[in-house]
Amino acid sequence: MPAVVLVGPMGAGKSTVGALLASRLGVTLRDTDEDIAAAAGKSVQDIFVDEGEAHFRAVEADAVSAALAEHDGVVSLGGGSVLADQTQVLLKEHTVVYLRVGVADAVKRVGLGSGRPLLLGNVRGRIKTLLEERAPIYESVATLIVDTDGRSAADVADELATAL
Ligand code: S3P
Repeated sequence: MPAVVLVGPMGAGKSTVGALLASRLGVTLRDTDEDIAAAAGKSVQDIFVDEGEAHFRAVEADAVSAALAEHDGVVSLGGGSVLADQTQVLLKEHTVVYLRVGVADAVKRVGLGSGRPLLLGNVRGRIKTLLEERAPIYESVATLIVDTDGRSAADVADELATAL
């Protein structure tokens, strides 16, 4: 069982905070986007383009399930993974940290030239919509909510390492 699972939207800092937190806790980080890309032999972006979002979500639900079962360190989930009912159920058994971020900071962190497939065209507008749609889900699965706006990843990781 993982020590902690990080959820939150793109630009929340899950990967960066996850790496720092894992090192502070003396464990390793597992990132489900990386698992999916490694298994497919291509980037998440290319999976979206070649196979479509529905296929990605199915693969993602399986990758999350495997990571939660196998990894005992920090697990960082892709921003949309909480959309899956199966994932919402599995997360009930874990310590889940929601890294909360506002639109402005999320846009700054992902960058306007983001290669993320769901942000193509209008990064700010897409992030705003995704945050509004998903915030209630992140809140519902979270054991702990940490605000990341205006904060460094190190600061957030320090708070979590103390709180957990
Ligand atoms: C997605 C978030 C991405 C990645 C994919 C879809 C989403 O992960 O899984 O592009 O639906 O929010 P990050 O949150 O790690 O960027």
